[in-house]
Amino acid sequence: MPASASASLYLGLISGTSADGIDAALVRFEPRFEVVAAQTFAYPMRLRERIVALARSAAQIALDDYGRLDVEIGTCFADAANTLLHNAAVAAFEVAAIGSHGQTVCHRPGGSHPFSLQIGDPSVIAERTGITTTADFRRGDVAAGGQGAPLLPALHAALFGDARIPRAVLNLGGIANATLLRPGNDVVGFDTGPANCLLDAWAARHLGTARDESGAWAASGKVRGDLLEAWLQEPYFAEPPPKSTGREHFNLDWLDMRLPSDVAAADVQATLLALSARTIADALRASGAHEVYACGGGVHNATLMAALRAELPNLRFDTTTALGLDPDFVEAAGFAWLARARMDGLPGNLPSVTGARGLRVLGAIYAASSLPRSR
Ligand SMILES: Nc1ncnc2c1ncn2[C@@H]1O[C@H](COP(=O)(O)OP(=O)(O)O)[C@@H](O)[C@H]1O
Ligand SMILES: [Mg+2]
Repeated sequence: MPASASASLYLGLISGTSADGIDAALVRFEPRFEVVAAQTFAYPMRLRERIVALARSAAQIALDDYGRLDVEIGTCFADAANTLLHNAAVAAFEVAAIGSHGQTVCHRPGGSHPFSLQIGDPSVIAERTGITTTADFRRGDVAAGGQGAPLLPALHAALFGDARIPRAVLNLGGIANATLLRPGNDVVGFDTGPANCLLDAWAARHLGTARDESGAWAASGKVRGDLLEAWLQEPYFAEPPPKSTGREHFNLDWLDMRLPSDVAAADVQATLLALSARTIADALRASGAHEVYACGGGVHNATLMAALRAELPNLRFDTTTALGLDPDFVEAAGFAWLARARMDGLPGNLPSVTGARGLRVLGAIYAASSLPRSR
């Protein structure tokens, strides 16, 4: 059945730089913003490994493999949407559109031919869900001279701004991004650098696990002050916004080039966590925010959260739960928001954040078949 004109729900799908899985959120915007259902779907392990391998500096992929990966990821995204709807007992015709971020496989917003590449074939998603799918949200902003990232500050501004108090929203994904919401000022938002991506990569190498659960391993190590100081010299941290980065920059190659051989693995993890906390805190201190609301998987890393609180003793530091939104689904809700903006023909970017030449309607529409279909 085709999406009807009265369909009022939007479904956001994203797998972020961590490639830990697909976050799906079903969102209602009228009469007020509400996440109706949300769930995370792990990637099959082998698929995740293939995605993560692509983030190494010298990664290569054959066109055949690339095409196949695009369809496999699209199929996983479609399955995630269908399962979420099934579990929530919501029919496809009740959903006006899906907003799919896809999986970033390469983000290079600088240089003579800037680009940002997200895959997960949206035609497959539209076909398998029967729901009109919007996707490819970053490239329109990049084509207009922007970073194509971060895109979430528009949602943060719509939901979390306060008329009097300067606030920051901090997303702790593979990469950390901060949105600064200051009354009477343009929204500013940028990637501060790594949040979890280096912690995940080092844990994978030494523990054989996808992550350092709760940051327990990092907590068992000692921060090496000399290493931390050296790593803080990374030029990205001093660059002024607009700026964005990804795992093609902050990966094990980045670390291996800066790692003496005599450091215990747990101390490296402790120092990587300190690097994330320090660079994030530096950005937040400079922002003038009085309150910080964190979201993203990093809120489950107790050691990282404690390090951030210790770095920022004078700020209110909380998660977005305090603002009524589950920190695990802020990003997915953001892509539901972008789907709605696309279907309404409204801009999705904030030029003050991305550096684009102007407001742009972001994303392309992949219409669901209007023919009756069986499932
Ligand atoms: N229980 C946990 N303990 C430690 N780290 C966690 C935990 N849960 C999530 N994370 C971290 O959060 C990351 C996923 O966060 P997410 O917001 O999905 O990031 P992304 O948008 O990059 O996918 C994981 O890769 C992991 O590093
Ligand atoms: Mg994720």
